[in-house]
Amino acid sequence: MAMPKDFIDTNDFTKEQILAIEDLGLAMKKAIKVDGYYPHLLRNKSLGMIFQQVSTRTRISFETAMTDLGGHAQFYGPGTIQLGGHESLGDTARVMGSLLDVMMARVNRHKDVEGLAAGSAVPVINGMSEFNHPTQEMGDLMTMLENLPEGKRIEDCTLAFIGDATQVCVSLMFICSKMGMHFVQFGPKGHQISDGALHVGTPEERAAFGKRLMEIGEKNCKESGGTIVISDDIESIKGADFVYTDVWYGLYDQEESGASYMDVFYPKYQVTMDMMNYAGPNSKFMHCLPATRGEEVVDEVMDDPERSLCWVEAENRKHSIRALLAALAKRTPLNDEDVDYSAKAELHAALKKIEELQA
Ligand code: CP
Repeated sequence: MAMPKDFIDTNDFTKEQILAIEDLGLAMKKAIKVDGYYPHLLRNKSLGMIFQQVSTRTRISFETAMTDLGGHAQFYGPGTIQLGGHESLGDTARVMGSLLDVMMARVNRHKDVEGLAAGSAVPVINGMSEFNHPTQEMGDLMTMLENLPEGKRIEDCTLAFIGDATQVCVSLMFICSKMGMHFVQFGPKGHQISDGALHVGTPEERAAFGKRLMEIGEKNCKESGGTIVISDDIESIKGADFVYTDVWYGLYDQEESGASYMDVFYPKYQVTMDMMNYAGPNSKFMHCLPATRGEEVVDEVMDDPERSLCWVEAENRKHSIRALLAALAKRTPLNDEDVDYSAKAELHAALKKIEELQA
């Protein structure tokens, strides 16, 4: 299967394609961090960044990644450009696609990023919707690949997500099942992926949405050998290599007050050091951030230098996004013949693999 034009959903990509992008990201991370060599693969290229929601990590990652690659990024905040108002989404996408080399969008409604991709001649990357957060998946997978328990492959690992079925939780089910991992959601009934809890709609529509999410995960497992468990029994997290959580207070227009969420999730689903040790003595903590300290996770876990990966995970947003941009946008030839850097062979091999997969 040829590499898709757009990065809207990791389920559109094969495991091999995703791992090839991660390899490119790791090679560029090494080139830049170890050798100070910036591969200008997108020299003079422009990225347009549409944000309908606030962002720290995603915005900074995309913008600085583009600079690292020799290109430029433009930020369009809420209300600053046409997006499905007076001008149709298709017309906006067509015009932006003629002015830019690559686009990203963080949208309120998933159908808008799909519409941008359908109408634009250039690649469109989903910077998060109410449905999924695929660039977060890439940063998370990179972090797990860099921190595999001794003697284990990614396929041997378990990720336990604790708490609410946010789009990050759903996204983790997608990427873990795609990789052939064991994925667990330990969360209360009514807030499980299979409930479609955060989907906007009638109870019947939410149930149908939850069913659709599980079908996607199960299809991935059939192909990869992965497994999925959804449970409100803490026993389900025993043996987890990675313990992951996200905020409890809902998303977008589904937001509820923190207090009502506390009633549902606290204290059973708060990630404490006792919970980490129950999962396993060497389990690692992950969080997409921003975190609400003292709610879904305590300081002791978040700040533990041995157990917490959430800080390197945030940094890996940029390293993986740099690779996505370089993989999807039209690349500038890498003129590094006269440059000596330790990741040169890895970087060239990773680019060759991407080219093969795009052929
Ligand atoms: N994890 C994440 O997407 O962070 P931001 O909302 O700050 O971009």
